[in-house]
Amino acid sequence: MPRSKIAGIGMYVPKNVFTNNDLLKFMDTTDEWIQERTGIKERRYADRTEETTTTMGVEAATIAIERAGITPQEIDFIVFATICPDYYFPGCGVLLQRAMKMKEIGALDVRNQCSGFIYALSVADQFIKSGMYKNILVVASEKHSFGLDFSTRGRNITVIFGDGAGAVVLQPTEDVNRGILSTHLHSDGNNAEILAMYNPGTHANHWVKEKKLADFDEAEMGEMFMSHSMIDNAQNFPNMDGPAVFKVAVEKFPAVIMEALTANNLQTTDLKLMIPHQANLRISQFVQRKLKLNDDQVYNNIQKFGNTTAASIPIALCEAWEQGKIKEGDLVCLAAFGSGFTWASALLKW
Ligand code: ACO
Repeated sequence: MPRSKIAGIGMYVPKNVFTNNDLLKFMDTTDEWIQERTGIKERRYADRTEETTTTMGVEAATIAIERAGITPQEIDFIVFATICPDYYFPGCGVLLQRAMKMKEIGALDVRNQCSGFIYALSVADQFIKSGMYKNILVVASEKHSFGLDFSTRGRNITVIFGDGAGAVVLQPTEDVNRGILSTHLHSDGNNAEILAMYNPGTHANHWVKEKKLADFDEAEMGEMFMSHSMIDNAQNFPNMDGPAVFKVAVEKFPAVIMEALTANNLQTTDLKLMIPHQANLRISQFVQRKLKLNDDQVYNNIQKFGNTTAASIPIALCEAWEQGKIKEGDLVCLAAFGSGFTWASALLKW
C-alpha cells in the first residue's frame, strides 16, 4: 500500500496587518494584555470586499499545486477545512473548484474547527492509500475578521483570531522513508458549548422553546434560524470559556502527540519539528515544556498571524519549510486541539 506524501505546500495571508494597538480603536484592551496572555503581536485581516475564505484558499492552493509540479486540472479531489465559509451552504470546496477551473471532481468540506486541517489531511490520506485518487488538494482557510465581536464585550476572543490560508497537495509514494506515517483523530462532545458559535443554527433558542409550532406567526417562522434579536443580543458571535479550554488543551495536546509517536515506536527526541495548532503561545509553550522539547523542535508563528484556526498548521508548516527548518526525511508532528472538543495529530516523514 502506498503512503501519502506532501508533494507541494503553499500559504497565503492578507496584506493588511492589524496590530494589537489597532484594536484599541474598538475595544478596551492593551498590547501588553494580549501579548502576555496569548503571545500575539499582530494578525492579518482580509480585504473587506475582495477577499473571502475561498479566494484566500485559492491563493494558497495555487502555490501548493505549482510546487507539486501539476496543474489544477490534474487535481482528483478537494478537501476544504474551514469554520468561516463564504456561504452557510454550499461549502467552500465547490467554490474553489469553480474558481480554479478544475474538472468535475469531488469536493468535501470539513468543519472541525482548529483540528480541521489534520482531519482533512487524514481523510485525504485514506483516499491516497486506498488508491482511489492520485492528487488530492487539502485546503484550510479562515476569514475570521468578518465574524467577531469588535466591542469590549468580545475582546477575550476577538484579539486572538486572524485570517489566512494554507494548502497541500497529497500524492502517493512508494518511498518507505517518506510520507504520512499515521493520523490520530479524537472528539469529546461533552464540552461542545464551551467554545462555540451557536447561531445561525437549528438548536432551539429560548424564545422558540416558549411556544408551540402552531402559535408562531409568519415572521417568527422565518426568524428561527437567524433573527434580529439574536443580532441585537450579540448571539451571532463565538463564545469561549478561555480558562476551561486552556485546561483541556494542555492535557490533550501532549497526549495526542505521544499517541502518534508511540504508534510508530518513536520518541520525542526523534522529532525534527512539532507544529502545534497556533491556539495561543502559552498553550504551545506549556506543551513544549511537558514534552521536554527543545526550542528548535517547536515552530510557532502566532505572534505574527494570530490564531487562524484550521489554517494555522498548514501556514506554520509552509513557513517552516520555506525557512529550511524541514528537509527531506525529517520527522514532523502536527497536532491540534479545538472546539468540539476535537483533537488530532499526524506524524509524517517529509
Ligand atoms: N484585554 C484586556 N482584558 C481582557 C481581555 C482583553 N483582550 N480579554 C479579557 N479580559 C479581561 C476579562 O474581562 C477579565 O477581567 P475581570 O477579571 O475584570 O473580569 C480578565 O481579563 C480575565 O478574563 P479571562 O477570560 O479569565 O482571561 P484569561 O486570563 O483566562 O485569558 C485567554 C483569556 C487568553 C483566552 C485564556 O483564557 C487562555 O489562554 N485560554 C486558552 C484558550 C485559547 O487560547 N483559545 C484560543 C482559541 S481556541 C483554540 O484555538 C483551541
